[in-house]
Amino acid sequence: MPDIKTLGEYIVEKQHAFPHASGDLSSLLASIRLAAKIVNREINKAGLVDIAGAIGTENAQGEEQQKLDVYANEKFKAAMEARDQVCGVASEEEDDAVIFNKQLNRNAKYVVLIDPLDGSSNIDVNVSVGTIFSIYHRVSPVGTPPTEEDFLQPGHRQVAAGYIIYGSSTMLVYTTGDGVHGFTYDPSLGLFCLSHENMTIPKDGNIYSINEGNYIKFPQGVKKYIKYCQENVPQEKRPYTSRYIGSLVADFHRNLLKGGIYLYPSTLAYPNGKLRLLYECNPMAFIIEQAGGKATDGTQRIMDIAPNELHQRVPFFVGSSNMVDKVEEYLDTYPDHD
Ligand code: AHG
Ligand code: MN
Ligand code: MN
Ligand code: MN
Repeated sequence: MPDIKTLGEYIVEKQHAFPHASGDLSSLLASIRLAAKIVNREINKAGLVDIAGAIGTENAQGEEQQKLDVYANEKFKAAMEARDQVCGVASEEEDDAVIFNKQLNRNAKYVVLIDPLDGSSNIDVNVSVGTIFSIYHRVSPVGTPPTEEDFLQPGHRQVAAGYIIYGSSTMLVYTTGDGVHGFTYDPSLGLFCLSHENMTIPKDGNIYSINEGNYIKFPQGVKKYIKYCQENVPQEKRPYTSRYIGSLVADFHRNLLKGGIYLYPSTLAYPNGKLRLLYECNPMAFIIEQAGGKATDGTQRIMDIAPNELHQRVPFFVGSSNMVDKVEEYLDTYPDHD
């Protein structure tokens, strides 16, 4: 019998290190992993059943919703409502925060912010997609419905964050501020098993990930940084390798393992950047910092930004610390846009 440690066992083990922990966070993470298994099952058969493709509606941000965006959103919400550890959820796929009305939910101390399906345009072509989640203590009184203030907290107040990558294997990676740990899903057992304990990102890397189709409208500093990545300096492993999947979770996961940088700056279509501060940038920033890397909007630490609206977008630079430092240097030297 191989020495298998499941995600459930691992969380309980970690919880024992905090004698006053109530187990609520463990139970909340259990609801997330249950929904992840259900979504994983659906994604795996996406080519066979009528679950791929667009649904014909738009979300609050004007994006065409895919059937699986809506499916994943429903499953994660339902799993969290059922376990009574969450008083409300803000989601990329919802206009406003969803408030759970049962008294048991009102008594809960956590709110969750979620990108239920990340990279959803990749579903139809069988490319990796993901889920990203971010957990905070509410600031409003327990026993009452959560308020806007609960959802608009800066990222440094996160209690836990993580993602699931539905890839060539499915993995769940999370942090509670005590390192980053990865679990691979064994579908035959129906369990996430510890496979990557204490994940760290190399300080330097040689992969850069950016949608270069938007080049013309990138800030000067980003254009210069891209040229820097492409220069021939073999002793510094340049030119770097360009890799871009178009699912943040998949691009992030690869760069976390190998060392690299992911960039989504301001563009013509998205003057503030495309990625959402609350559902995408903050949770990834928490994970990358816990892994020894860095996340900024070009000038400011992502987790220090005070959010002012749920669907707020920010430019996003995340990955190996020396690479993020370098792009910040370029943005500082060349702040102009054209
Ligand atoms: P989502 O599918 O949750 O809306 O996120 C899409 C995001 C992110 O996953 C990805 O990195 C990025 O959009 C890709 O954008 P471009 O197609 O503009 O490169
Ligand atoms: Mn979307
Ligand atoms: Mn996304
Ligand atoms: Mn999404």
